[in-house]
Amino acid sequence: MDLSRFPRVALSLLPTPVEPLPRLSAHLGGPRLYVKRDDLTGLGLGGNKLRKLEFLLGEARAQGADIVLTVGAMQSNHARQTAAACARLGLDCELILRRGSHATEAYLHGGNVLLDRLFGARLHVLAAQESREAFMAARAEALRGEGRRPYCIPVGGSCGLGNLGYVVCAREIMAQGAENGVTFESVVVATGSGGTQGGLVAGMLMTGGTPVTGIAVEGSRSEQEALAAAQAAGALRLLGHDHDDVAASVNVLDDFVGPGYARPTDSMREALSLAARFEGLVLDPVYTGKAFAGFIALARSGRFGKDQSLLFVHTGGAPGLFGYPESL
Ligand SMILES: Cc1ncc(COP(=O)(O)O)c(C=O)c1O
Repeated sequence: MDLSRFPRVALSLLPTPVEPLPRLSAHLGGPRLYVKRDDLTGLGLGGNKLRKLEFLLGEARAQGADIVLTVGAMQSNHARQTAAACARLGLDCELILRRGSHATEAYLHGGNVLLDRLFGARLHVLAAQESREAFMAARAEALRGEGRRPYCIPVGGSCGLGNLGYVVCAREIMAQGAENGVTFESVVVATGSGGTQGGLVAGMLMTGGTPVTGIAVEGSRSEQEALAAAQAAGALRLLGHDHDDVAASVNVLDDFVGPGYARPTDSMREALSLAARFEGLVLDPVYTGKAFAGFIALARSGRFGKDQSLLFVHTGGAPGLFGYPESL
């Protein structure tokens, strides 16, 4: 798999480590649990989006962009990592954030938002009903009119090019498993805009690797499977690996979403608490907490033996803890 023809900027500390979770595995009494530490990618407090931004901002630079725009939820980790990456690369950054229905001080000004400002990004905060994409397109047009060269990144950095970051991650996981003599039965990851799961699925399809289970943090199983399959297909197309049946490799569980995006659940609270108390591992309430609840449920399901191994991809997001302190 040759990715060298895609312009790329180095933003992350790769490969991220794979660590065992021995105390939690013993406590749950099921398979051996491992975590891929994509929360430790580094820049701007790290997370999964830096892998995508390596390719997206590689293209932005190649096109001569001088300002980057992207969209997200108010407490978007993707927006925060984009702001940090732009700071590192000396690019201006504008974030178009949806305010949503929360109104706490922490949500509006703390957590990721505090960091966005610290990294020097300009924030446009929209009401729930306004289209972020339409705003971004209009803003980019206005900037072009001023002689600027904007580069727009879709929500979550999810698109064929961005998802190549998770094709790279799939390759790392297979290599790290082989180095350590571990075969993972399943790789479990939070899925939102679908590019992280889609990139992993694409990478695994290309290397004959491990099945991927996405845990939805919003949307229904069928919606999220369609998103992730489209994202996987986009990455495969760019790489010239058209697969007829990508959808057959996309599996999403939607039992851990609860009442909706960023709305707390008891299983999320339990997951945060178990990860923290048994392993000193910090999850977030919106993405990895719900995904880890799914990971724990799989470990408890009885489908995997004690000598089998499951891998959780920790996609980061801990700054969100300080944006939603009430969810704990
Ligand atoms: C911490 C974290 N995990 C997982 C995801 C989901 O990734 P994707 O949008 O690629 O599905 C996000 C997306 O914002 C995130 O911030």
